[in-house]
Amino acid sequence: EPLKIMIVGSFVVDLMARSETLPIPGQTVKGSFFKMGPGGKGSNQAVAAFRSGGDVSFLTKIGRDLFSSVALDFYHSEKMDTSLVFKDATQNTGIALIMVDEKSQNSISVVPGACSSITFQEITKASGVLKRAKVFLTQLETNLDIIPYAVGKVRENQGTTILNPAPAQPLSDAFLALFDIITPNETEASILSGVKVVNRESAEKAADVLIGKGVKTVLITMGAQGVFLKERGSRSQFFPALPVKVIDTTGAGDAFNGGLAVALSEEKSLQDSILFATAVAALSVTKIGTAPSMPLRTEVDQFFSSVDKDAYF
Ligand code: RIB
Ligand code: NA
Repeated sequence: EPLKIMIVGSFVVDLMARSETLPIPGQTVKGSFFKMGPGGKGSNQAVAAFRSGGDVSFLTKIGRDLFSSVALDFYHSEKMDTSLVFKDATQNTGIALIMVDEKSQNSISVVPGACSSITFQEITKASGVLKRAKVFLTQLETNLDIIPYAVGKVRENQGTTILNPAPAQPLSDAFLALFDIITPNETEASILSGVKVVNRESAEKAADVLIGKGVKTVLITMGAQGVFLKERGSRSQFFPALPVKVIDTTGAGDAFNGGLAVALSEEKSLQDSILFATAVAALSVTKIGTAPSMPLRTEVDQFFSSVDKDAYF
C-alpha cells in the first residue's frame, strides 16, 4: 500500500504580535494582540495536508526544551503521527517572530534551530516511507543537504516531488532539477529566475527560465491575484484567487502547498489540484494563525462545491 504524502520540513513556534503598523528600524509600536502557536512552513504544510484529507508522514526535528511541547501537544491533539519527529539534545526548537499589521501584512524572522540540523542518519530512518511516497513536499527552512537522498528514494518509485522554495534564497540548478513541481511566490520566483515577477507576462518569463533549469512544472502563487501555471511544453494558465474575507494571510502559501499535495496524491488532474489548493489557502486566510487556521476536508469540500469551476477554465 503506497503511503501518499511525505513532507520533510521545519517546525517552529510562531510568536505572533499584531499592531496597527509594522515597526520600522529603531521604532517600538504598541501591539494589541499576541498569540503563540505551532508554525514552521513544513509543519504548516503537513497540518494543511493532514486536515484536508491527506495520508501524511512528516519528518522534522525539535529541541528538548519548553517549546518542543508546542509541537508534540498539537500533533497529539490532531492525532498526527510523530514517529519521524526527532529531538536534538543541544539545539533549541525553532521560533518565528511574526508581526502583522492592520492590513494583514506581515514581517517574519524565523530561527529554524533544531530543524536546521536533520542528520543523514535521521533521513535514512524514513527511507521506507520515502520509497512508498506518491508525493514528496519540502521547503527551505531545514538543512538542504539531506534532500537529494530523500528525492532519490521517492523517485525510485516514480513519486512526484514538489519544492516550495520558501523562504526566498538562490538555489543551484542541480538542486532545482530534483523537483517535478516548484511553487514559488513572486519574490521567490524573481530570486530564482532573475526575472522580476509582477504580472502574468513576467511570470511566464520567469517560469521559462526555471523550466530551462530542469523543473517540469512551475506554479507561481501571486497572492490576491491568483496562481500562474506553466508546464514544460504547454501554454500557461492563470487561476484567479477565490474571494474571501481576509483575516490573516500568514501561512496561506503553506495551506496551498498542503492542499496541492493532497489533491495530487488523490490523482486529481493538475488543474483540479490547483483549484483544491486554492480553496484550502482561501479558507486558511479567514482565520488567525498558521497551522491552527488550516481547514478540515469537510470545510474544503463544502467551499469547493460552492465554487463556479467554469469561471476558472
Ligand atoms: O509560512 C508561514 C510560516 O513561516 C510561519 O508559520 C513561520 O513559522 C514562518 O516560518
Ligand atoms: Na491564517
